[in-house]
Parts: sequence; structure tokens; C-alpha cells
Amino acid sequence: MPSPLSVWNTAPTSAPAQRANRYVPGSAAHPAKMLPAIAAHAITTYTRPGELVLDPMCGIGTTLVEAIRLGRHALGIEYERHWADLARANVTHTLQAAEGGSGHVACGDARHLTDLIDERHHGKVALVVTSPPYGNSVHGQVRSSRETGERGVVKKDYRYSHDPSNLAHVSTDRLLDAFTEILTQCRRVLRPGGTVVVTTRPWRERGELIDLPSAVLAAGKSAGLTPAERCVALLAGIRDSRLITRPSFFQMKNVRDARHQGIPLAVVQHEDVLVFTRTQQRTGPRATTDEPRCTATAARRSATPAAVRSRTCARRGRCGGG
Ligand SMILES: C[S@@+](CC[C@H](N)C(=O)[O-])C[C@H]1O[C@@H](n2cnc3c(N)ncnc32)[C@H](O)[C@@H]1O
Repeated sequence: MPSPLSVWNTAPTSAPAQRANRYVPGSAAHPAKMLPAIAAHAITTYTRPGELVLDPMCGIGTTLVEAIRLGRHALGIEYERHWADLARANVTHTLQAAEGGSGHVACGDARHLTDLIDERHHGKVALVVTSPPYGNSVHGQVRSSRETGERGVVKKDYRYSHDPSNLAHVSTDRLLDAFTEILTQCRRVLRPGGTVVVTTRPWRERGELIDLPSAVLAAGKSAGLTPAERCVALLAGIRDSRLITRPSFFQMKNVRDARHQGIPLAVVQHEDVLVFTRTQQRTGPRATTDEPRCTATAARRSATPAAVRSRTCARRGRCGGG
């Protein structure tokens, strides 16, 4: 078998093509979905059929759908009721065609994950695949003036609800604290040697690069996880040795606007993929613990880049999801 590569060829087809007939109507409206092939690649690389996969911020349930299709059992948590209902509908839809898998979605705050997941699953999760919510600048779909009767193009499906507890609405500092807590809870339900895969991207605010992947790496360490890999998941296809890019309308607009202002922005065509493991604990006199060595807040202060720390960019300029 060939060795896995750090570059994941995850966009041989577009996101709508990857979802066609596999996701229930309404799923496309989520503002920050993961590309199904990214979840599928992580699941095939880090688990075997019959194992348990968890997404603590599961949106419309992409991780769960792909896990069930690959014969794994899947658990999801989603804070917003509307998306949790859609995730359940997607799980039901997938189970009609799949053999062997199962899926369950809980609606709640993933910071209380260990209370939301049945105790019989604690210590049994083989893989966590997730992506934190991080803003809306490139989310959404375009409707023409002909459809809406309004002037110019109109943006739709680019925001979460206005619930302030949705982590999409909090400052970067609070997002990182909350995400550290969620990863800490994930570690507690992972089996020893289990894997956590987080996809994320940097974004720019007023031209300045905000390195969210590095901050998430620090959050994972603070949560007591061991960093194992930093990979790239392509959002562009490859044909005849060339990249076939698939930027959104708003991504193109943001890049063009920035370049007009002299900021050398590039069109993002990949996700950063951070891979962590839950270290197997040794027994005997030199036994180690994988409990975090410092609190989430202390870790954020010590490990988060100054550029991230100094920002409170709730709602503005962040770009997440596929
Ligand atoms: C980047 S999206 C994940 C999308 C998902 N991977 C998919 O493909 O549909 C992040 C999700 O986290 C949810 N969320 C925000 N705060 C949360 C919390 N405290 N607990 C659980 N989910 C939360 C958001 O509502 C959003 O659906």
C-alpha cells in the first residue's frame, strides 16, 4: 500500500458534485460546510470499518455522512437546532443506502461534550474530524438581480443565526478558549492512540495575516493532545498537471479588492489540516498523563501569535468552511 501523502487530493470534483444526491435539500444553505472528500480522506486514513468517528461541531453532518458511507459509526454535536435537524436528516438519508454504519446527532454546546455523549462511547472514539466556525467573508451564494428584484448581486446563506453562544460570533480569543475546551473534552472521549483532525485556514483582517492554524495547533497542545502532522487538503482539482481552481464569487471579490489596495492576497485553494493524537499512556513507574499541563487561557496567552491575540474580530473578515 502506498504511504499517505501530506497533500490531500480532495477536490477532484466540485463541492456540489461531491454532495449531489447524498445530502438532503437545504444542506447547501449552511455557510461553512466541509468538503465531503476531506472528511472521507481523514476517515479512510485514520480509522477502520466499524470504528467510531465524532464531529463535535458537525453542521449539516458531513463528517457523519461520510463516516457512515465508509461503514463507520458516527456521532455529531451541533449547537444550532436547524443544522442539527439537517444533520439528523442527512444521517437518516445515508443510512437508507449504507450497510453497517450508524449515526447519532445531539443538539448542544460542545463545551459540554462529555455530558452530551452517551457514557458507553467514552474512551471509544477512534477519530474526531472537525472544523471550528470562523466567520463569513467568503461564505454564501450569489443571487442575481433578476431573481431578487434588487440591484446588483445579492449574497445569501452566508451567516449563522444571531445566537451569541454560537462560536461563530465570538472574538478570536474566546473562540480559541472555547475550542481548547472542546478539544479537551474530545480527548476525554478518544480511545488511547485515537486521532483528531482539525481543518482550518488563515484569514486576513485589514490586510494583516491572522494565523489561525498555528493558534489551533497551540489549542490542541493545551488540550493535552500530541501534534502529529500538518497537512494540506486541496480545494482545487488537478487536471493535466494544472490546478483547477474553484473560488467562490466573494473570495474572488475579496482578493481583487485587496489587490487594488496593494495587498498581495492569494486565492485560498487549500485547507490547513492539523492532525493530533491522544498519546497512549504508559504504565509503571515512568507513567505519563495526557491531562493538559496548563489552562486553556494560559495556553492561549503563551502560544497564540500576537497578531491573533490582539484581535477581536468577531463577525468580520474571517473565512471558514468549504
Ligand atoms: C465550520 S462549521 C462545521 C461545518 C460541518 N463540518 C459541515 O460540513 O457541515 C462549525 C459549526 O459549529 C457550530 N457551533 C458553533 N458553536 C458551537 C458550539 N458551542 N457547540 C457545537 N457546535 C457549535 C456552528 O453552528 C457550525 O455549524
